[in-house]
Amino acid sequence: MRSPIPVDEFDASCGSIDSVVALPPETFTSDEFHKFEMEAVFGHEWFCIGRATDIPNKGDYYTLNVGNEPLLVTRLADGSVRVQANVCQHRAMKVAEGSGNARRFKCPYHAWVYGLDGKLQSAPDLNDSPCFDKSKVELPGIRSAVWEGFVFITFDPDIPPLGERLGVLGSYLKNWGMSDLRSASPLSWLDIPVNWKIFGDECYHCAHLHAKSWGPMYETTSERIDYDSAANEPVKGVIAYDLISEGEDFSPTRTGRTLQPVLPGLTTDERSRLVYVTVAPNLLIIAMPDKVKYFMWLPTGTTSSVFAATWMYPESTLDKPGFTEEWEMEVSDLGQVMEEDIYAWTTVQAGMYSRNAPRGRYAPSEVVLVRLNEWLVQKYRQADVAAEATELVSADVTA
Ligand code: FES
Ligand SMILES: [Fe+2]
Repeated sequence: MRSPIPVDEFDASCGSIDSVVALPPETFTSDEFHKFEMEAVFGHEWFCIGRATDIPNKGDYYTLNVGNEPLLVTRLADGSVRVQANVCQHRAMKVAEGSGNARRFKCPYHAWVYGLDGKLQSAPDLNDSPCFDKSKVELPGIRSAVWEGFVFITFDPDIPPLGERLGVLGSYLKNWGMSDLRSASPLSWLDIPVNWKIFGDECYHCAHLHAKSWGPMYETTSERIDYDSAANEPVKGVIAYDLISEGEDFSPTRTGRTLQPVLPGLTTDERSRLVYVTVAPNLLIIAMPDKVKYFMWLPTGTTSSVFAATWMYPESTLDKPGFTEEWEMEVSDLGQVMEEDIYAWTTVQAGMYSRNAPRGRYAPSEVVLVRLNEWLVQKYRQADVAAEATELVSADVTA
């Protein structure tokens, strides 16, 4: 479909920070536009759906929904990860719920049984039928790739491999050894009633919205933000900045320092910064001296999303006596920051419906949002041009 908002209207949201303005408020509220955007962005890009490290053993699995697509992510016997439709090929029932370990998946409705690899193994009353070929039925696979322990998928069979997109970022974050980090707790989604773009990360607000919460733990004035991180590849939707610490191993905790052992292999320079990287459209990686956190979000509707925040450490840290207590303390110290963010996100979403909702100017330290806009607008334009071409072809055929 074509963009319900003329694509040229987005151009004012790209370019020089001295004149650029936010995307039109309708891009945060319109059901029509959301439909277009789901196809333009989520239909034609790699995006993250969790951690392969959360399913380390054969038969481990988890499920999630991406828009209208129920998905099942499984660890196969050969050690690879398979992402497949969680949609029974009989009558579209989900074959699995939640997460766990399984030898096979039995659909609860009529007991069709699928292997971990999605192949149909059994269908009651049809197994011996000469007019039913089990070998032709499987849960459809979704194109996927694992990068640094993160599972990514795309619904587009033609876009370049994920490695081409994230190679530079992989080198930048190499010393954090993300493939070997494990989540401190199972992935847990929070429903937040906002359009998914509201989660766009910047640190203009850190010194203001979080003045009393984050502020005393970690100093974040605009001068301490380096927006020219070498991890940046905005055209690929990789948008990065570093918060420069006052010294080594500073961290937003009640002591102002890391509470866990520093990751081996980090340089002095890497220990003296917090690295923030958005991998558009839905992942924010935060690399710190003792851990890597990631935030992930997925749209569930025009103005509803699910959001997850996860903390990752080396196994040696997770196994440390007293780790859980210290970690819970650190999470609770940042609880206020999270509440403030959620308050801001939901209030901004409400404001987007106002007849006075602005296409506001950006401050210099919001350049990350401008980079995100530029990536988005490129996606909008590609989809709109493709839809226009299809319309012209069908007009030609019917003429
Ligand atoms: S819907 Fe799954 S077996 Fe019928
Ligand atoms: Fe925030």
